Amino acid sequence: MKKIILFALIFALALSSQALALAAEDLNIKLPAPEKTGGMSLLEALNNRRSLSGNDIYDDKVLEDEEDLQKLSNLLWAAAGVNRDDGKLVFATALNVQDIILYAFLKQGVYKYIPANHSLELIEAGDHRKATAGRQAFAAKGAVCFMFVQDVSRWEKTNFNFNFKDNLQEIKLCGWEHAGSMTQSSYLYAASVGWGARTRMNFDKDEVKAILKLTDTQEPIIMQCVGPLVK
Ligand SMILES: Cc1cc2nc3c(=O)[nH]c(=O)nc-3n(C[C@H](O)[C@H](O)[C@H](O)COP(=O)(O)O)c2cc1C
Repeated sequence: MKKIILFALIFALALSSQALALAAEDLNIKLPAPEKTGGMSLLEALNNRRSLSGNDIYDDKVLEDEEDLQKLSNLLWAAAGVNRDDGKLVFATALNVQDIILYAFLKQGVYKYIPANHSLELIEAGDHRKATAGRQAFAAKGAVCFMFVQDVSRWEKTNFNFNFKDNLQEIKLCGWEHAGSMTQSSYLYAASVGWGARTRMNFDKDEVKAILKLTDTQEPIIMQCVGPLVK
């Protein structure tokens, strides 16, 4: 009898872990390669750049059709992608430290963007966009809620062997500059395809840290909601 119960337990465990694996697989997002040519001219995009206004309403859609997925891919690349064979990025960072990690809170889950292979890694399933909205509920309706996280420990890996604890103030200032470059690129891409965007510092830092399972050296510094608008 004991053997039967044990067998049933093992069988049930195997089934549930398979179900979990399948569920996680469903949430994986396969990004198409980013488009690096074409689109609106830079000058026009600069002229169109603005933050979402009170009259604009995000279209809270899941980014599941191919056209949206292509735009998500382009947006990620514009904000944080690699643009050269040596792994350097579309925006400049001091000492090429690349200390900002870009997270995307989507309806289906929270993802970490990996610039080196232009992919999204699932961090947490489920809709956690509310944590990035703080007291501004409209922000949780952006199809993409970006969170820009500085990891100061990356400074120790630069050629200068910075001890980040002795230079924390300058390092944090650089982090803001880096994140600012990223949000501007993202604003410009959004402007070029008629999407809304708004950079925001009003969000629940502790909740975001818990969801992203951040370490002591990683700090969320700014967020940006981006996405298609209800016409
Ligand atoms: C660092 C920073 C923090 C911001 N924080 C918020 C915020 O918490 N909530 C908000 O609604 N807008 C926020 N904004 C958006 C600004 O209010 C907006 O950029 C400004 O009104 C200028 O409008 P524009 O972007 O259309 O030029 C922030 C912008 C920046 C750059």
